[in-house]
Amino acid sequence: MFAPTSKKILLAVLVASYVIQSGLVYSDDVDIRLSEDAVQGRKLFHDGSCQVCHQLWGQGGFLGPDLTNAASRVDETRLASLLTVGSGQMPSYRYDAREIAFLRAFLEEIDRPDVGRGQLRLGDPASGTSPQAAFEAAVVAGNLPADARAGFETFRSGICSACHFPFQRSIVGAPDLSTAVDRVDDAGLRTVLSEGRPLLGMPPPAPVLSDGQKDEMIAYLHWLRENRSGLVGEVERRQRERGVDWSRLPWWEFR
Ligand code: HEC
Ligand code: HEC
Repeated sequence: MFAPTSKKILLAVLVASYVIQSGLVYSDDVDIRLSEDAVQGRKLFHDGSCQVCHQLWGQGGFLGPDLTNAASRVDETRLASLLTVGSGQMPSYRYDAREIAFLRAFLEEIDRPDVGRGQLRLGDPASGTSPQAAFEAAVVAGNLPADARAGFETFRSGICSACHFPFQRSIVGAPDLSTAVDRVDDAGLRTVLSEGRPLLGMPPPAPVLSDGQKDEMIAYLHWLRENRSGLVGEVERRQRERGVDWSRLPWWEFR
C-alpha cells in the first residue's frame, strides 16, 4: 500500500496535470470561454476528482469514459442519475439539482467537436509515459545520425506508428521494426516501403516516400537494430520514472 507521502505526491501530480491541462484547454488557442455556471461546474469537477477516472481531451484516468464530448451522448436524466446514485464503478456523489445543473453546463460548454474531440490514449503522451511516447523520447535522446533521424521523423509524422508498436508485434500483426533488418535485406525493405504488403495488412505508404526518404527510413531501421537493447532499457526506465500508475490510484477514497 502507499505511504502517506507517496499518496500526496500522486495527488499533487494529478492536480498539477489538471491545472496544466486546464491552462492549455482554456487558453486562447482553444478559445472556450466558460459561463459562470460552467465555472462552478468545473470547480465541482475538480473537487469531486472526476479526472481520477475520466479524461478530458485524453488527459486523466481511465476507469470511466472520456468526458470531452459526453454532453452529446448523455441526456439529462442519465446525468442526474449518474451524479446521484452512480453507476457501476462510478461512485454516487449525491449532488443536488443546482450542482447537477452546474456540471451539466460545464460538460456542455467543453463539448466542442469543432475545437477538439476526446481521445483515448494509453498513458500521458505529454509526459512521455505512454509506451509510444517513451520510445520516441528515448530515440530522440539517442542522438541518431542525420539520415536515420530524418527516417525517424518520417516514421513519427506518418501513420506507421498506428500499426507498428515499439518492441512488439501489434494486434494488427505489424512486426517489431527494431528487428526488421534481421528479416529483410535493404532491397526488400525498399520494396516494402514502395508497395507495402497489401495482402498481409500493410498498405503502400501514403504519402509516397521519395527514394531519399526510403534510404533514410532504412538508415533508421539499421540504427534501431544496433541500438535495440539500449533503447529497450531506456524506454523501461522512462516509463518507470515518469509514469503515473493510474490503476493504483486510491480512487475509492473519493467514494
Ligand atoms: C471512481 C471512478 C469515477 C469517478 C471518480 C467518477 N466517475 Fe464518472 N464514470 C465512471 C465509470 C466507470 C463510468 C461508466 C459507468 C457506466 O457506464 O455504467 C462513468 C460514467 C460517467 C458519465 C457518463 C459518460 C458516458 O459517456 O456515458 C459521466 C457524464 C460521468 N461519469 C461524470 C462524472 C463526473 C462529473 C464525476 C465527478 C463528479 C465523475 N464522473 C466521477 C467512473 C467514475
Ligand atoms: C495499417 C497498418 C500498417 C501501417 C500503417 C504500416 N505498416 Fe508496416 N507492416 C504492417 C504489417 C501487418 C506488416 C507485416 C506484413 C507481413 O506479414 O509480412 C508490416 C511490415 C512492415 C515491414 C517489414 C518488416 C518485417 O520484419 O517483415 C516494414 C519495414 C514496415 N512494415 C515499415 C512500415 C513503415 C515505415 C510504415 C510507415 C510509412 C508502415 N510500415 C506502416 C502494417 C502496417
